[in-house]
Amino acid sequence: MAEIDVIIIGAGASGLMCAIEAGKRGRKVLVLDHANKAGKKILMSGGGRCNFTNYSIEPDNFISNNPHFCKSALTRYTQWDFIALIERYHIAFHEREHGQLFCNDSAKDILTMLLAECHNAGVEIRLNTDISNIQRGGDSFTLTSNQGHFVCASLVIATGGLSIPKMGATPFGYKIAEQFGINVLPTRAGLVPFTLQPDDKDTFSPLSGIAIACVVSNTRQSFRENILFTHRGLSGPAILQLSSYWHAGEAITVDLLPDENVAQTLKTKRQQKAKHTLKTILETYLPKRLLACLFTEELLALSLQDCSDKHLALVATRLHQWTIKPNGTEGYRTAEVTLGGVDCDEISSKTMASKTMPNLYFVGEVLDVTGWLGGYNFQWAWSSAWCAGQYV
Ligand code: FDA
Repeated sequence: MAEIDVIIIGAGASGLMCAIEAGKRGRKVLVLDHANKAGKKILMSGGGRCNFTNYSIEPDNFISNNPHFCKSALTRYTQWDFIALIERYHIAFHEREHGQLFCNDSAKDILTMLLAECHNAGVEIRLNTDISNIQRGGDSFTLTSNQGHFVCASLVIATGGLSIPKMGATPFGYKIAEQFGINVLPTRAGLVPFTLQPDDKDTFSPLSGIAIACVVSNTRQSFRENILFTHRGLSGPAILQLSSYWHAGEAITVDLLPDENVAQTLKTKRQQKAKHTLKTILETYLPKRLLACLFTEELLALSLQDCSDKHLALVATRLHQWTIKPNGTEGYRTAEVTLGGVDCDEISSKTMASKTMPNLYFVGEVLDVTGWLGGYNFQWAWSSAWCAGQYV
C-alpha cells in the first residue's frame, strides 16, 4: 500500500496547481485522474487558446451562495501571479475584449507549463485511475482504486463540475462531500446557450449564424455583448453570461440597438426621409432577416410619413425590449461551467479545507464558486488551488 502525504483527485487546472504548490513545499504528492490525459478542459478551453485569466478580477465576477468566500483566495493568488508564471515560461499571450487573456499559440502551452512545474516539484500523476472507495481511518484517508490502495494524510478533491461529461466530468466530488457530511448546494449548468420554445424556434432558427451586439438582461443582471442566433436557440457571450443568472421559466429582455434611441431616430428620419419605408431605414441598423421575424410585412412596408408616433413607439419597444422566454438551456452537454456545488460555508476560505473533516480539501469548480465568461473560472481554479497547496 502506497503511503503519500497528499493525494489530489483530478488532474485538471485546480488539481495540477495544488499539486505544484504542495510539491514545492516538499510534500510527497500524487495526483489521480480517471481520464487518459491530464487537463483535457484546459486543452479545449478558449477555442483551443485558453482564456487563462483576466486583467480585471473582482469578487463581483463570481456567483456563489456565499459571495464573500472567493475574496481571500483571489487576493492571495492573483491574475498577476499567474501572468508572472506564464511569462517565466515565455508563453506569448494577448488581450481581447473586457481584459480577457488568451495564449497566442495554443492552450497546450498552459498544460505543458503546469506539467513541467509538477515534474519540477516531484509530483507524480497517475491517469486511468478509477477510485471506488474512500475511507477515513485515524489521521489518514485510504483510497481503493483499480490501481490498488493508497493512503494519504491530506486529500484534495479537484474533480471539477458536471459540464461536458464526454470529457470525463462526474459528480464524484459532490458524492465525496456528502459522504463526509458536507453540504452540497443544488447544481445547474452555467455559461450555456438557451433553447427556445417550439414556436420561437421555428421563427428564429432561420437566423442561425447572425450575431448582434446587444444588451441582454433579466431582473438581476445585464450584459452588453454579442448574441448569436443558432439552429437550436440563442448563444453568444451575452447569452452565456446571462444564463448563469437565469431561472427556469423566466423571460429575458434584449435591447437590439442599445446605442440608439429608436423612437427619436425614427422621428428625425420621418422629417428627413418621409418617403422611405420603415424597412429601408431599419435595414441600415439590423439584418433584414431579423427584421422580418420581429415585424409584420405590412408594418415594414409603411413609409415613414404614414407611420404614426404610436407605430414608431411600437417599433422602438420591440427593438429596445425584445422579450423572449427561453425553453431551457442546452444543459451540461455544452455548458462551460456548473453553478452550485460544495457549500462554501462548510469550507475555510483561507485553506480550502473542510471545517468539519480534518485534512479534506476542495478546490476549483467543485466548490460553489462560478465565474463569468472571460478567464474567471480558470483564475478561480488557480487561486483556490494555490491556497490549498500552502496547507495540505
Ligand atoms: P477540471 O474539470 O478542469 O478538472 C477536473 C478533473 O477531474 C478532470 O481531469 C477529470 O477527468 C477529473 N475527474 C472527474 N471525475 C473524476 C473521478 N470520478 N475520478 C477521477 N478523476 C475525476 N474557463 C476559463 O476561465 N476560460 C476559458 O477559456 C474556458 N473555456 C472553457 C471551454 C469549455 C468547452 C469548457 C467546458 C470549460 C471552459 N472553462 C473556461 C471552464 C474551465 O475549464 C473550468 O472552470 C476549469 O477547468 C475548472 O477546473 P477544475 O480543476 O476545477 O476542474
